[in-house]
Amino acid sequence: MRLAGAELVESREILPGQWIQAYHAPGLARGSRAGQFVHARPGDFSGLILRRPFSLNTADPATGIVTIHFRVIGRGTGWFTRLRPGDEIDLLGPLGRPFEVDPRSQHLLLVAGGLGMAGVRMLADEAIRDGRRVTLLFGAASAREVYPSSLLPDEIEYVVATDDGSLGHHGYVTDLVADYESWADQAFACGPLPMLAALARLAAGRRERLGVAKLGRKRGARKAAPVGSPAARRKAFLQVSMEQNMGCAVGACLGCVVMSTSGVPQRVCREGPVFATEEIAWDGAWS
Ligand code: FES
Repeated sequence: MRLAGAELVESREILPGQWIQAYHAPGLARGSRAGQFVHARPGDFSGLILRRPFSLNTADPATGIVTIHFRVIGRGTGWFTRLRPGDEIDLLGPLGRPFEVDPRSQHLLLVAGGLGMAGVRMLADEAIRDGRRVTLLFGAASAREVYPSSLLPDEIEYVVATDDGSLGHHGYVTDLVADYESWADQAFACGPLPMLAALARLAAGRRERLGVAKLGRKRGARKAAPVGSPAARRKAFLQVSMEQNMGCAVGACLGCVVMSTSGVPQRVCREGPVFATEEIAWDGAWS
């Protein structure tokens, strides 16, 4: 983690109220992994004190460019949209624990709901770079909110579901998972909590079947890996990136806690945001 100066290179509204901004921040671009995030500080004269957390959408070590994808939900995020190319901000990061891909996994299933695209987008780049095949399932309320396919790598299969049926499958994105679960070696998801909980239930109900169980049968899989460890995530069929409101983003305020199956509260900003789905108490109390 470091504090990096970042110069805005490009800023555009890609969907109503949703923006992608590209910043030149070579240190961050070199050291970041899919699933991690940055904590960005609004300008000195904005009257806004708190930093805002943004998932790292992409990071290109060759150009030194990182991008963030966010929705305008208040004055803080609105302030960022008024920045112009050449303006500088500082970014604290990379923060959090990244997705872990088992070296033997060749077929990755990514599942995103709405702004959850920002949480898995970078993993698509990493997987393509490493020669893996990727299918990305994306769910939105309507066609107006569907992430543009032009912003994704050509190599991936992109399948869309909309709640109102205005584009792609008519229904929830989770409806699509059954068609891919036996193909996938691992799955990675980011989106609203009900979507993640539904995926966790699907994964838990299929532990003994092909697809979900495939990695579990591999040598060494029965050995317990410490909760929160990279090994625990790497062994999981389904990893989820949790979206929680954050205050400090460095583990101090306990404002982002979720409950684990072991009964130990987990800070999304430190122990997460990526967890093996088995680590989260989906039916338990949320702090
Ligand atoms: S946001 Fe403060 S502990 Fe996570």
